[in-house]
Amino acid sequence: MELPQKSDVNLRVIVLGDVVGRPGRQALGRSLRPLKQRTSADLVVVNGENAAGGAGIDAGTALEIRSAGVDIVTLGDHAFQRKGVNEFLDKNGEWCIRPCNFPKDTTPGSGWCTWRSPDGVTVHVINLMGRVFMGGATECPFRCVDGFLSEVSAQGSAITICDMHAEATSEKWAMGRYTDGRMSLVVGTHTHVQTADAQILPGGTGYLTDLGMTGANTGVIGMDAQVALKRFLSPTPAPYQIAEGEGILHGVIADIDKVTGKTVWISLVREG
Ligand SMILES: [Fe+2]
Ligand SMILES: [Fe+2]
Repeated sequence: MELPQKSDVNLRVIVLGDVVGRPGRQALGRSLRPLKQRTSADLVVVNGENAAGGAGIDAGTALEIRSAGVDIVTLGDHAFQRKGVNEFLDKNGEWCIRPCNFPKDTTPGSGWCTWRSPDGVTVHVINLMGRVFMGGATECPFRCVDGFLSEVSAQGSAITICDMHAEATSEKWAMGRYTDGRMSLVVGTHTHVQTADAQILPGGTGYLTDLGMTGANTGVIGMDAQVALKRFLSPTPAPYQIAEGEGILHGVIADIDKVTGKTVWISLVREG
């Protein structure tokens, strides 16, 4: 990664893909602070939907992620899998958010949150979930993001970041195009495989189809290879196990202009 000189006019943001189990949490604990120091990053956002045993998040794993130097945790289709998480999300919605396009009246927690830098820059982060090849009681993510953008723009100019948790590359691209010029940064999560299309869209939105994952790269998207293969090769049940090994950090780093909210530089993060 060719790192440009850090400028006070920009906010430097790191966003990392889905943390998968203990190897993912340990990789964060080991590598995130040195990465933050080397890059002088101001804000770190991480998807934590697979942090607890590979499916879901709980209070312990969320706090472990946060103590590694993460400011905001986003989630996805596994958000509500762990016991006690509903209450945790209700209490910690200012930094740990679940997809915003779930029904308002029946969903615990918050779908977006606000972070402020020491020099007073406001950043709003939204988590959305796609509907193509995905289940769940989700509402239209495109209409949801419109509601979010009109709500936060009424509060004045600010930086906005979207984690679009979706299976289909087309749906993530569509979200990038839909919000180009209106969102500072749109990144995809859920597939755990990093894509090579980090770029700045014509309207100034930084974009990457999928961040990849934070976990052991020895298996199949963070899960043990033998079990994953058994699930493809045989109809008999094979419960997932986490892949062992040293974890990697995959994601994106971007400089966002503090005044215009546009991305001015973007690059892939691949650590380990
Ligand atoms: Fe997911
Ligand atoms: Fe995931």
